[in-house]
Amino acid sequence: MHIELTKETADLAIVIMAAGKGTRLKSRRPKVLHEIGGRALLLHVIAAAKMLVSHDRIYCVVGHEAEKVRAAVAHTGVHFMLQAEQRGTGDALKTVKAFFASSEAAVPAKLMVLSGDVPLIRVETLRALAAVHDAENAAMTILTAVPDDPTGYGRVIRKAAGSAEVTAIVEQKSLTNEQRDAPEINSGIYCFRTAALFAKLDLLSTSNAHGEYYLTDVAGLLVADGEKVVATKAESVDEVLGANTIVEMMHLDAAMRAATARRLMAEGVTIFRPDTCVIDAEVQVGADTIIEPYVQLLGATRIGSGCKVRSYSVVQASTLGEDVLVRNGCVLDGATVGDGAILGPYAHLRPESNIGPAAHVGNFCETKKITLGAGSKANHLTYLGDAVIGTGVNIGAGVITCNYDGVHKHLTTIGDHSFVGSDSTLVAPLTVGEGAYVAAGSCITEDVPNDALAFGRARQVTKSGWAAARREAARGEK
Ligand code: UD1
Ligand code: MG
Repeated sequence: MHIELTKETADLAIVIMAAGKGTRLKSRRPKVLHEIGGRALLLHVIAAAKMLVSHDRIYCVVGHEAEKVRAAVAHTGVHFMLQAEQRGTGDALKTVKAFFASSEAAVPAKLMVLSGDVPLIRVETLRALAAVHDAENAAMTILTAVPDDPTGYGRVIRKAAGSAEVTAIVEQKSLTNEQRDAPEINSGIYCFRTAALFAKLDLLSTSNAHGEYYLTDVAGLLVADGEKVVATKAESVDEVLGANTIVEMMHLDAAMRAATARRLMAEGVTIFRPDTCVIDAEVQVGADTIIEPYVQLLGATRIGSGCKVRSYSVVQASTLGEDVLVRNGCVLDGATVGDGAILGPYAHLRPESNIGPAAHVGNFCETKKITLGAGSKANHLTYLGDAVIGTGVNIGAGVITCNYDGVHKHLTTIGDHSFVGSDSTLVAPLTVGEGAYVAAGSCITEDVPNDALAFGRARQVTKSGWAAARREAARGEK
C-alpha cells in the first residue's frame, strides 16, 4: 500500500478508541467487533488509518473484551493500549498519555483520534482534517457534520456563524434549551497538538450525566486557556455517522453496501436491483459480469469478467475465473472455479472445492476438498468429497464418494476420461484409472485399472412370465 508522508502526517500518530462496551447495542459481542459490509467496525477504521500512516504509528485503545478485540485485529500490525476500566473517552486518552509516559516511544507532536464505532470514515477526509489542523495551527481540530437528525450526538458550538473557531462541544444530555437545535455534530474524530491535549486530561471531571471523563470537554478547557480550537465539516455526512445501536449499524451497512455496488458498477459490472444484493466491501468483480437480484457476494470473493451469477446464489470467500455461469441458488464457500465452468442450479461447493475450466457441477451436487479437472462433469445429485478427479471425466447422476469410515477421511482418485455410471458408490481409499468405466449402480471397493470396466452389483435375474403368473394366481384366490 502506498502511504504518503506529507507535511501533515510526518509527525502524526493515530489513536483509535475501541475500549467501550457498547451498552446501547444490548449485545454480548464488543461493539467494535460488530460487522458492517462484512467486516468488523474496528477493521474499517484501522484500514482508513493505515492509508494515512504506517501500522506502527497506529495505537488501538482496547478494554472491554480486550483479548477478543486484540485477536480480531492483531493481523493489521497496530499497537494496543489497555484501558483497564472504561471511564469514558477522556479516560481512553489518559491511557494513551500514561503509555507514552512509561514507554521509550517518542511522543508524536500530533495525535489524530478516531472512534472505533465511526467506520465509514475515508482517508481523504482524515487527510483534509490534518491539513486544516496545520493550516489553522490549532490545538484541537474537530471533524463535524450536519446530519438530518443530530439527536444523540455531541454538538459543536462555534464562536460565531461562519467562524472556524469553536467554544465547546456539548453532549446531548447537557444541551441547554437554546442549544437543543444546534445542528452541527461532533464526529468523535479529532486532531490534537499532543502537548496541549495531554496538559488538559488531568483537568477532566466526571460530574456529568454519564459520570464519565468526556474527551469532548477538552475543547472547552483549551478555549478557556486561550488555545485555538477549530472545526471542519466532512464532505459527506454518512462517513462520520456513529454506530451505537443495531439500527444505526444497519443504516451504515446499507450505505456501505450501496457504495460497494456503485464502485463495482462504475468498474463495468451489471448489478440488477443492487438494493437486493449483499456485497461485502472487499469483493472484486470483473467488467461485463452480471449479478442478478438477491445475490450475496461475501468476504474476499473474487469474480472474473464475463461471468453471470444468477439469483439466490451466495458466494463466500471464493475465486471465480472468467465466463463462469453460476445458476440459481448455488452456495459457494472457499471454492475456486475455473474459466467457463457452469454451476447449479442448487450446487453446494464447500471449502477447497477446486473446479477446473469448463467443468460442470449441476443440480443438487455437493463438493468438498476436491479437484474436478477441465471439462469434467458431475451434473446431477452427487456428493464428491476428498477426491482428485481428472479431465474429461463424466460422473453420472447420484454418484457418491464414500470418503469417511467413521474415523478417517480417505481419498478417491479418478483418472482422465473415465466414466462413472449413475448411482455408483466409490468406497475410498480408491483409484479409478484413466479411461476406465464403472457400471451404473455399482458399489466399488477395489481399484479399477486404466481402461477397465468394473461392475460392483448383483447380476440381474429375469424370470419370464413371473408377473403374469402372479396376477393369474391372485385372480384364482378371489
Ligand atoms: C462520542 C462523543 C460525542 C460524539 C460521538 C460521535 C464523547 C464524550 N462524546 O459519543 O460527542 O458526537 O462520539 O460518534 O466522547 N471508548 C473507549 N473507552 C471508554 C469509552 C469509550 O475507548 O471508556 C470508545 C468506544 O469504544 C467508542 C468511542 O470511544 O469506539 C466512542 O465512545 P461512545 O461511547 O460510542 O461515545 P458516544 O456516546 O458515541
Ligand atoms: Mg459512539
